[in-house]
Amino acid sequence: MKILVTAGPTREPIDPVRFISNRSSGKMGYALARIAVSRAHEVVLISGPVALTQPEGVQLIPVLTAEEILAAVRRHWDWCEALIMAAAVCDWRPIRVSPRKIKKTMMPAVLKLKPTPDILLALRSIKGGRIVVGFAAETDRIEQEARRKLQEKNLDLIVANDVGRSDAGFEVDTNQVTMIPAVGEVEHLSLMSKDAVAERILQWIEARYSSTKTCTKST
Ligand code: PMT
Repeated sequence: MKILVTAGPTREPIDPVRFISNRSSGKMGYALARIAVSRAHEVVLISGPVALTQPEGVQLIPVLTAEEILAAVRRHWDWCEALIMAAAVCDWRPIRVSPRKIKKTMMPAVLKLKPTPDILLALRSIKGGRIVVGFAAETDRIEQEARRKLQEKNLDLIVANDVGRSDAGFEVDTNQVTMIPAVGEVEHLSLMSKDAVAERILQWIEARYSSTKTCTKST
């Protein structure tokens, strides 16, 4: 399959020196890209700034902001058969980006923000036959919030992780996820390596892909 993976944080600039970002290390997204290649898929990896080595056999597209992820995903939309959105896209960006460093004494007490584009929402209406997988980074009412995002963003699968835990979610090498499909059984996975989580997600995508192909052939 041709799989587009997004990984890492975005950086939303305030001025040439400062930005808003989050704790994503890119480990979950890079594991997905690496494991997808090992399972003989073609992979384009759109990555925010991370300190990880480019996985072998992957086409890497470095990006900084939510706008840049959206543009890169759009450029590869016709090519891809599946999208996995593991990137932690900042939900907000400053209303105004200063072209010059804001002096310490001039820094406003209140930073005015506006929403970034929601990538999955923007693609909702042009999804076509692609398999689209999102993640839900939650600390409260995890399954409920994940289900809301699954429906709102018209996803085939959402992978919910508890980002309040010290052994799951951001930065660590392990994750504990619940896989909630739009149709089918919910799977509560135990704590495992991010590579093992990636294997399970890719197995799900492959099964889904072959069932769609079988349906298409028999109709
Ligand atoms: O990178 P690591 O340190 O390994 O950490 C992994 C992870 C915690 C970042 C990863 O497992 C994860 O949960 N990624 C999604 C983080 C996130 O943005 O979740 P969310 O619940 O805020 O967003 C829901 C979905 O919408 C996500 O698939 C997200 O990529 C997408 N989104 C979010 C905002 C936005 N503007 N556009 C989007 O498409």
